[in-house]
Amino acid sequence: QGSYAPLFPCLRQYRGFWLPDAVLRNLPTVHASFEKRPADILLASFPKSGTTWLKALAFAAARRSVHSPFDDVHHPLLSRISHDCVRFIDTLRFLEDDDTDTTAAPRLVSTHLPYSLLPRRARAADGAGGCQIVYICRDPKDTLVSLSHFDAGVKWPSQAEGGTAAMEFEEAFKLYCQGQCGLGPQWEHVREYWEASKRSSGSVLFLKYEEMLQDPAGNLRKLAEFMGCPFTPAEEDAGVVRAILELCSLDKQRNLPVNRTGVYKRYTGGTIDNRFFFRKGAVGDWRNHITPEMAARLDGVVEEALKGSGFTFGLVE
Ligand code: A3P
Repeated sequence: QGSYAPLFPCLRQYRGFWLPDAVLRNLPTVHASFEKRPADILLASFPKSGTTWLKALAFAAARRSVHSPFDDVHHPLLSRISHDCVRFIDTLRFLEDDDTDTTAAPRLVSTHLPYSLLPRRARAADGAGGCQIVYICRDPKDTLVSLSHFDAGVKWPSQAEGGTAAMEFEEAFKLYCQGQCGLGPQWEHVREYWEASKRSSGSVLFLKYEEMLQDPAGNLRKLAEFMGCPFTPAEEDAGVVRAILELCSLDKQRNLPVNRTGVYKRYTGGTIDNRFFFRKGAVGDWRNHITPEMAARLDGVVEEALKGSGFTFGLVE
């Protein structure tokens, strides 16, 4: 892969997935480090599927006895982007971190790696006795549109060095349909976690972004229960669920100074302005960017690839 475009950073094909060069290079070290210091809960996702939101919700719920979601002054999610509260293992930054918020049990970490490329101890569905996994997925059309906006906003190293600017959307769409983007094909990423959740007997929680938006409270309760910290009746009466949802909401998070002006250290190097992690947060925004013909083409690719898996994207009527 000689060409360099932000949406599709120097990719190498590895065991069925297109991995950014830096991710592939880091893989052996990530595995070795994780084996030494396994997490309790791993939040996994394909990029632009709701990772930032899931991290905020999981962190706020898991740490609520230490950090009250009613604390409108000191809560860590008011001064740190959720990616700095729950670290990616795909980098080694989770090892740099020894503050209790990121190391206290349940220790939360996250990943964009496909299930089959996770460290052995993270593969919860296969009896390795490691961590539990929460996976969030999103309709490919909205994921692609979200990716392309992210891409257009972020200044990638190649651009800073005078390299290729963001790719035309049509070209990105064509490559996406072929599965070519960082960590793609998206549907194979989803399929692996879906199948893991089916054989895992309760160690993989599978969430959909669309369902989370439709019923945030129900999905937050499900998440807390899965993480071993269900909301008590007293907490329900006190409005803890509502407080967490408000704290983690797109409007609240987007308008925090840290998310307007702060920067996030990318897991493959460089930095990203935090504001690029927050945009519309809608279902079906693809209709503003993808023609019905293109949508039918991508849906066809996905349907064919997922045939027999029992999985369908989006809300099931
Ligand atoms: P859009 O670009 O469609 O708006 P990720 O966190 O995996 O990078 O995904 C980013 C997507 O999640 C973006 O979607 C972003 O707007 C949305 N998002 C970020 N924070 C959110 C929140 N608190 N609630 C709902 N959606 C959120």
